[in-house]
Amino acid sequence: VQQTYIMVKPDGVQRGLVGEIISRFERKGFKLIGLKLFQCPKELAEEHYKDLKAKPFYPKLIDYITSGPVVCMAWEGVGVVLSARKLIGSTDPLQAEPGTIRGDLAVQTGRNVVHGSDSPENGKRETALWFKEGELCQWTPAQAPWLQE
Ligand code: GTP
Ligand code: MG
Repeated sequence: VQQTYIMVKPDGVQRGLVGEIISRFERKGFKLIGLKLFQCPKELAEEHYKDLKAKPFYPKLIDYITSGPVVCMAWEGVGVVLSARKLIGSTDPLQAEPGTIRGDLAVQTGRNVVHGSDSPENGKRETALWFKEGELCQWTPAQAPWLQE
């Protein structure tokens, strides 16, 4: 089963969108296995975004992600990685479709309220990067038989 790392970025927390964003993944039917409010240290932000180090916006990106608390989440489910990316929408909120999180709730790439892993490998890597093993919870939701036949 796939895991994906989803994070409400500091703008989403400051704007009071945490519940709204969590509920979109909850209502879809994915399983929450990790959740915390967290002030991200600079070193962790740099490790998380290491593939973007050469980009001109990288310093601003690190400042943005460390500018206030984030909400870290790990979600599990069949196909959760790609599906979560679709629920989140395009990187540029002005290009993101209405109905997506960024399409409904944001206007600028530099303030796009949420992160989602872009591959199953990165879903595992980022979940392990942001959560200690004891912080993840394996459980069976009561609704499981009503989500999958
Ligand atoms: P994440 O789910 O956050 O990884 O976004 P993404 O996969 O849609 O985009 P990508 O991984 O390419 O970029 C990571 C993050 O860097 C984006 O979500 C933005 O917050 C930021 N970013 C990307 N491109 C730009 C840009 O051109 N300008 C600015 N200011 N920020 C950018
Ligand atoms: Mg990305």
